Amino acid sequence: MPRASHLSPLRFAASFAGGALIALVGSRLLPPLVAQARGAARMRADGDPLATLLDDHRAILSHLDAMAESADTEVFVRTQHLLRLKRRLAAHALAEEDIVYPALREHLETVDDATHLYEEHAEMKVLLYKLEQTSKGDGQWHLHATELRTLVQRHIRQEEEVDFPKLRETLDEATSTELASKIAREKALLL
Ligand SMILES: [Fe+2]
Ligand SMILES: [Fe+2]
Repeated sequence: MPRASHLSPLRFAASFAGGALIALVGSRLLPPLVAQARGAARMRADGDPLATLLDDHRAILSHLDAMAESADTEVFVRTQHLLRLKRRLAAHALAEEDIVYPALREHLETVDDATHLYEEHAEMKVLLYKLEQTSKGDGQWHLHATELRTLVQRHIRQEEEVDFPKLRETLDEATSTELASKIAREKALLL
């Protein structure tokens, strides 16, 4: 009767580590690929390659409104909204900086507009850092939150009323779908 084969403890550990590595790589690669397909599907459904960024804008502004309207005593509320804002803004900025602003430069040759948008993202990051460093019960925190809200409102207005409409006009259906899927993939790297 043939003897049942058994892995040595060392081989078992190596095999387990290999399986865990494959699972880890899969768990990192799969969400962006799924998101990419979803981004393309959404573009085909509502016809706007930038729709997901508009959703982000509404969510980002609602966190900023809550932060700017919070009292110095509402430390928990401030902490919650700041964390959510940072997460949403990080993924949003990644998609814009790596996909949308380069497309603006490529299709519109609006180098100045794109550069200005990159600079405003950097200003937002400085204000986020100040919000992290300032005590959430401090009146100064409210001033930083209000300053960030004003900056973000202006930035979003520029994107939605000037740059995004110009970009949409240059894209046909195929390039719109490609842009939408790339935006979704990039956001999924962080979310
Ligand atoms: Fe932006
Ligand atoms: Fe934006």
